[in-house]
Amino acid sequence: MTSGLRNMLQETKLTPADFIYPLFVRHGNNIQFEISSMPGQYQLSLDRLPQQAEEIAQLGISGVLLFGIPNQKDPTGLENFHDEGIIQQAIRQIKQAVPELLVVTDVCLCEYTEHGHCGLLNPEKDGNPYLPAGYPLNDPTLTILAKVALSHAQSGADIVAPSGMMDGMVNAIRSALDGARFEHIPILSYAVKYASSFYGPFREAAEGAPKFGDRKTHQMDPANSHEALREAAIDVAEGADMLMIKPALPYLDIIHRVHEAFPELPTAAYNVSGEYAMLKAAARNGWLDERRAVLETLTAIKRAGAGVIVTYHALDAARWLAR
Ligand code: PBG
Repeated sequence: MTSGLRNMLQETKLTPADFIYPLFVRHGNNIQFEISSMPGQYQLSLDRLPQQAEEIAQLGISGVLLFGIPNQKDPTGLENFHDEGIIQQAIRQIKQAVPELLVVTDVCLCEYTEHGHCGLLNPEKDGNPYLPAGYPLNDPTLTILAKVALSHAQSGADIVAPSGMMDGMVNAIRSALDGARFEHIPILSYAVKYASSFYGPFREAAEGAPKFGDRKTHQMDPANSHEALREAAIDVAEGADMLMIKPALPYLDIIHRVHEAFPELPTAAYNVSGEYAMLKAAARNGWLDERRAVLETLTAIKRAGAGVIVTYHALDAARWLAR
């Protein structure tokens, strides 16, 4: 086939508008720390955001997903819902510089709590006697998540993305937003999140590794797929506007199933830090052609059913697609 014919008949066309680019933001001035396990990705200070946002928008990328590194961590994660918190300031900076760039925020506790877990933990004393000490407490966590989402909306976020997989989180956030006249702010739920080894580099990037234990109490077993549909159905019933599957590449079958089961909702996929690190490492060793491998991977994720792709490759891929 000629290239003109191939182009005409191509079923899946990747475009920069499919992408959301994750950003790691920290306090301070003029900071650009490269994340060692994610070459080409940085922690940026607030003052660097306007320029970065302009570059992202110029490439035609739809939005950014923000992760914040707070000044201080404590058992509840107080900076998470503070008006001058790192994310609240970041949202204002970006929306002021480039109003049309979509700002999506991660709504979770893990970067803000000193223990690094996604929820409040059962205390040693006077806690829930039926659960072990240190076990995530689902319902008290929902109150915090609702406050965080509301504070992001008040700072100007376009979409909130709860990622902690607590039961009832979409419902709690929806009621908090609606109660404060933010009916129009959509919820992108990380409905299907696996307890995956591929989050390793992110935990360095966001400084959010659990200090002890793991996330298997609330994240899904990689061996299960029917459960993914149950999780997605619950979030849809609670009012989720978009469903995200995470990670992406090892779970293309799950993306496909969720997309087929809920065709009325946009399906998103998170091409996570470990997936990025793998391709980068191989490319740096000369073992893979980076451009071809990245575009093939992103095309596969879209072909599986994800119309929205959160990816650290967004800037590179957008440049390659423009040529
Ligand atoms: C939790 C969160 C994580 C990621 C996104 N949101 C870490 C986790 O679940 O342990 C991982 C993303 C990546 O690996 O790129 N707030």
